[in-house]
Amino acid sequence: MTWWERGSIYEIYPRSFQDSDGDGVGDLRGITARLPYVRRLGVDAIWLTPIYESPQADFGYDITDHTAIDPRYGTLADFDALVARAHELDLKVLLDYVPNHTSHEHPWFAERRDFYYWRDEPNNWRAVFGGSAWERVGDEYYLHTYLREQPDLNWRNPEVRAAMLDVLRFWIDRGVDGFRVDAMRQLLKDPEWRDNPPNPDWDGVKEYDSLLPVHSADLDEVQELVAEIRGTIGDRLMVAEVYAPVERLVRYYGERGRGAQLPFNFHLITTPWEPEAIAELVERYEAALPEGGWPNWVLGNHDRGRVASRVGVAQARVAATLLLTLRGTPTLYYGDEIGMTDVPVHRFDPDGRDPERTPMQWTRDGGFTTGEPWLPYGDLGVNVEDDPPILRLYRALLALRRGIEGPYRTLHAGDGVLAYARGEHHAVALNLTGEPRPLPVRGEVLLTTHLDGGGGDRLRADEGVVLRI
Ligand code: GLC
Repeated sequence: MTWWERGSIYEIYPRSFQDSDGDGVGDLRGITARLPYVRRLGVDAIWLTPIYESPQADFGYDITDHTAIDPRYGTLADFDALVARAHELDLKVLLDYVPNHTSHEHPWFAERRDFYYWRDEPNNWRAVFGGSAWERVGDEYYLHTYLREQPDLNWRNPEVRAAMLDVLRFWIDRGVDGFRVDAMRQLLKDPEWRDNPPNPDWDGVKEYDSLLPVHSADLDEVQELVAEIRGTIGDRLMVAEVYAPVERLVRYYGERGRGAQLPFNFHLITTPWEPEAIAELVERYEAALPEGGWPNWVLGNHDRGRVASRVGVAQARVAATLLLTLRGTPTLYYGDEIGMTDVPVHRFDPDGRDPERTPMQWTRDGGFTTGEPWLPYGDLGVNVEDDPPILRLYRALLALRRGIEGPYRTLHAGDGVLAYARGEHHAVALNLTGEPRPLPVRGEVLLTTHLDGGGGDRLRADEGVVLRI
């Protein structure tokens, strides 16, 4: 087994993890200082969202220099020190690779028109964050799948490919262990620029979803780029951001050794918090995996509301038990391990994602910065210093999961309870309700969300248990 099949990944949003110089914005030195905490939590790798030079229109996903660290976060020397310290602690380091677009302030945008998509006429495509995906400059329009400050790179131009693959080599030479690849499915567009058809099932919420992005995302040809990027990343880890239905998502595993080892599976974020729906999802996903394809699960990230707000604080520990006992590699989002919730704040992000990006709550006074934090803290009753039960549960689950192996099998999905076996020796039972329920499986309690010996033949309200069977 590889480290990433055995292990788990911890996502850090650098702006919000730990500030070391009092400017209210997190930085690399701050992260390095907190690595022992991450190690003790029991994860195996950290993934840092973008730390490169950027005007921060999309907080680092708009890059002006792919091989420079943004001065707000530190220097290349700080980065090298972070990697060295992580490796000393036996933690892998994954960087965010953002191939689909650059900042409009990137020198390429002024000097290399052929690196971007320019057209005389826009088509009907919508930008992910709203409005047309085309921005007018003089008599022409350029394509931006995200903000207008993020023009899309033209990956059909071999010089773009060469330049962008060099970026990967630069960071590989500095010792990184892998990459999370941003917006993978959007890397190529219809060469004929056809209009996207209307989405008959649109719920009226996000303008982007009013059209089906059949000509602007997930083209078959994208798989060639997946293979090319993987070819450069080699045996290091390639995680790919792919929001797609399960059947489309699993294509990103590619042919053996030519795809992403972990195309992010975000489906737990959107599936109703009901045993039948979760069991159906897990079974469908497991069945769709290609031979040799290793599963993975995500409950939260910097783009989606926090899990404790989605399922409720009382259920957050049940959710942790699910994430850390399903078959496959889990990715945790910083702060979820202490039960942080969305903070109702809308100051910066044009897509309304500030609530899930607030500073990590280290102490009863915050502990993130000596200055004014760039976003406010949430309820500081939730903090690392108090070593809350949910944090102890995360540590216990991360340790216990190393011994849990074997296929997933649903044992029970109904009346608010989901129970499943893992291999021949373990079972998990989760009460997704706030009322007691019969425990549908017998065994020795190894761990419960309540951190005691369990409730006998019942699951207590909001309880999850891991059993030896
Ligand atoms: C991905 C990132 C998101 C970013 C977008 C554009 O979806 O996770 O934060 O805004 O790509 O780069």
